[in-house]
Amino acid sequence: MTINTLEEKFTHELGAIYDAEHQFLDAQQTMLESASSADVKAMLKKHIAETEQQIVNLTRVHEILGLTAKRVTCDAAEGLVTEGNKMLTATSDVPALADLTINGANSKVEHFEIACYRGLISSAQMMGQAEITRLLSENLQQEEMTAQALESSMPSLLQKAMATSKTAGMSGT
Ligand SMILES: [Fe+2]
Repeated sequence: MTINTLEEKFTHELGAIYDAEHQFLDAQQTMLESASSADVKAMLKKHIAETEQQIVNLTRVHEILGLTAKRVTCDAAEGLVTEGNKMLTATSDVPALADLTINGANSKVEHFEIACYRGLISSAQMMGQAEITRLLSENLQQEEMTAQALESSMPSLLQKAMATSKTAGMSGT
């Protein structure tokens, strides 16, 4: 792969986030099946719907550039999904720990997506692409709101995980 211009770099990274969003959509659907907490389930359902809209927005961004949307394998997304699934399998016997794992895995994903969208938006602004900037900013805002929501629900999930660990005979006394 050779990239010589800002436009080419933008197009490559656009294809990568387009792939990443598809990967994260599948991962969230898997996590929804494993979640126990009503809050975690509601959060996942809300963000699954948002992710579907984000994929539509990314398709539109490709169209504006005269391109057909194409997934460019995002290795970073694959790593995040693999790590999340590994932890989910490891905690699957303890629902409170699995919920906490889902929250944490999604938080990592959201912060990754935020960095991707901020980079793309900076490039789109530099290239004078106003509509593309607007569409990507819509996605960014949803990722930022989701990251905040995940952080807010973390303390209660931690408390439940702590209570479960105590009843399971956590050592240290
Ligand atoms: Fe997201």
